[in-house]
Amino acid sequence: MALREILKFGDEALRKKCRVVTAFDKKLWELLDDMAQTLHGEQGVGLAAPQVGILKRAVVIDLLDGKGVHELINPVILSQEGSQTGNEGCLSAPGEWCEVERPAKVTVKAFDRNGEEFTITGEGLMARALCHEIDHLDGILFIDRVKPDIAPR
Ligand code: NI
Repeated sequence: MALREILKFGDEALRKKCRVVTAFDKKLWELLDDMAQTLHGEQGVGLAAPQVGILKRAVVIDLLDGKGVHELINPVILSQEGSQTGNEGCLSAPGEWCEVERPAKVTVKAFDRNGEEFTITGEGLMARALCHEIDHLDGILFIDRVKPDIAPR
């Protein structure tokens, strides 16, 4: 396992639409292991592959709630309900926090590292993390979700 460099806002890789993962192989597993290590090293709750310069649809989330690392490959939001507004940050924008509105609850379909499909339902912080990380796979950053009236200059 190895720590990977986290790209910062302004890097054009963060604005790309990522490719669907088709090979659930050792290379993918190494990427996921490295992403988890990098996430833990930065004490973040989520990291998407494009943040380490890999334009593949893969994310890791760890809320440090004892449930461990969630790996989601090719995640798709199946349903969402409600809304929540709260402070949100990103490892690609250290120290920047903005109020972002997200669904209160989302259900996501994804694949695990072996290519097995599963669904996960998250509320609260998990819903926020799922939406934030899935956005990354389409080149969308949390600052794009800030309402204009409360956006910092
Ligand atoms: Ni982020």
